[in-house]
Amino acid sequence: MTVVAIDGPAGAGKSSVARAVAAELGFTYLDSGAMYRAVALAALRAGVGPAQVAETVSIEVGERVLLDGRDVTAEIRSPEVSEAASVAASLPAVRAAMVVQQRRLLGHGHWVAEGRDIGTVVAPEAEVKVFLTASPEARAKRRADELGIDPTTVLAEQAIRDQRDSEREHSPLRAAGDAVSVDTTDLSFDEVVARVVALVNARR
Ligand code: DC
Repeated sequence: MTVVAIDGPAGAGKSSVARAVAAELGFTYLDSGAMYRAVALAALRAGVGPAQVAETVSIEVGERVLLDGRDVTAEIRSPEVSEAASVAASLPAVRAAMVVQQRRLLGHGHWVAEGRDIGTVVAPEAEVKVFLTASPEARAKRRADELGIDPTTVLAEQAIRDQRDSEREHSPLRAAGDAVSVDTTDLSFDEVVARVVALVNARR
């Protein structure tokens, strides 16, 4: 079993980097944020708090994200669900339920797992831990380009979510003591991927 943990704030490039690193190494990619998003969507749909559905919803994350068997891959990326996911992720009961599922998955096989607390909480024993960062402006610009919207709006919303993610009482976003920080602001995508793959190969 090998776990490569890739944590960091929104827009640092975690998803695309983690996907590419997993493909290059032949590992499976785990998008833990998609699980928080799916819980948030389930709660919005049911009109209840996320803690009420966290233990009972069925979430499958892979190429597609399935919520109780239905494909929600696109829906979980909406601004409304992004905001709700950030709130859901601040609730200890939601985090506890997700961490159990994530640990179960990571217990077998070779993984590149991406999130905020993979190296600190979910898999503190991960062989390789990377903390991806980038300047707030660079992160907002990437998100805005992806979504085709105005970077100023993204920057403002991102600041609110960053603050909530890093100041929440339970599992706040922070780098594990033994994580390698990679600032992606001035690196190309290929350079970041190569750097992470090199870190993994150095440990094998
Ligand atoms: O990475 P993302 O934007 O898809 O994550 C959605 C939300 O879930 C975001 O507010 C951060 C939170 N999250 C978390 O708290 N812990 C994780 N391991 C992954 C995501």
